[in-house]
Amino acid sequence: MIDAKGRNITYLRISVTDKCNLRCRYCMPEEGVCKKEHTDMLTEDEIIQAVEAAAELGITKLRITGGEPLVKKNIVSICRRAAAVEGIKEVCLTTNGLLLPQLAKPLKEAGVKRLNLSLDTLNPEKYAYITRIGTLEDFRAGLDAAFEAGFEKIKINSVLIGGFNDDEIEDMVRLTLQYPLDMRFIELMPMYDSGDFGMEAYLPYSKVLEKLPEAVPVPQDGGVAKLYRLPGAKGNIGLISPVSAHFCGECNRLRLTADGKLKPCLHAPDEYTIKGLDKERIKAVFRQAIWNKPAWHGDLDALHRSQAGRNMNEIGG
Ligand code: GTP
Ligand code: 5AD
Ligand code: SF4
Repeated sequence: MIDAKGRNITYLRISVTDKCNLRCRYCMPEEGVCKKEHTDMLTEDEIIQAVEAAAELGITKLRITGGEPLVKKNIVSICRRAAAVEGIKEVCLTTNGLLLPQLAKPLKEAGVKRLNLSLDTLNPEKYAYITRIGTLEDFRAGLDAAFEAGFEKIKINSVLIGGFNDDEIEDMVRLTLQYPLDMRFIELMPMYDSGDFGMEAYLPYSKVLEKLPEAVPVPQDGGVAKLYRLPGAKGNIGLISPVSAHFCGECNRLRLTADGKLKPCLHAPDEYTIKGLDKERIKAVFRQAIWNKPAWHGDLDALHRSQAGRNMNEIGG
């Protein structure tokens, strides 16, 4: 479907849970999530019904997110059924990777084509600090399992935080020489009540490029990242710049939260309820949400927090 600004909306991000087995400081509070009523959450059947409605309106790509989508018990079944919906060409998933040793193979068999894994540092102590409760060893086991399962593409997402991981940019980028993966840096987005980072934490993507004089630009792959590559590398370097150079003009996505709200923009407060509706009504709500998709996300920087009204774990990025 084309929105009021002429953007073709083809990509739906579905957060299947707001729960997570980590507590990343920029994403959610230490105490975790306040428990919502089970009955407020979309059931598996409701998620699939929403995917059918979306596909009938022209959505072709799904990304399953969370919280952490792999803590959801029926995640493999959700992916399998979503991938089988007519019109859906690609199901991808974004995860912290920790549960991939058990789930990589079943997810691949269920039809998940590509995985994005979150990793902000290569240092075990810093990993434990930023995730509050995770170990780098468990991440490593998950990444190995993802490679073994044979996904079409693996991307690593690293949230760029000045004073925390900007000294590791070169080391992280070097992974693309060794492994067939894309290494992406995401500018830190100030969410609702996610961590208080100082001004120095908000680095523009240009800081990454300054450290990589040998990187050459390559064509974008349809995603939001500007892509570069080191000579001889097996994968790309991606730079995602929602703060210093937003990409709202080309935004092709909608978001569905685990409690059944359609969000036409990551950083806008607007939400449209689909919980409890039949497929035709869901389609009407999709049309309304797409038509009213904001032109851009408004000011977003160290001094202007996101207007989303939710933390990232409740939206899924
Ligand atoms: P690909 O399908 O591989 O292109 O994945 P993706 O980049 O769409 O998804 P992923 O879940 O890996 O998201 C990477 C980062 O980009 C996350 O921090 C998201 O919050 C951010 N991001 C994705 N889409 C948008 C968007 O529409 N607006 C903004 N501001 N940030 C986004
Ligand atoms: N700013 C930027 N990226 C974030 N993510 C989570 N919270 C933030 C934030 N405040 C990233 C995660 C994950 C992706 C879906 O969103 O690292 O890779
Ligand atoms: Fe969990 Fe991802 Fe949020 Fe970290 S960024 S707490 S892994 S949902």
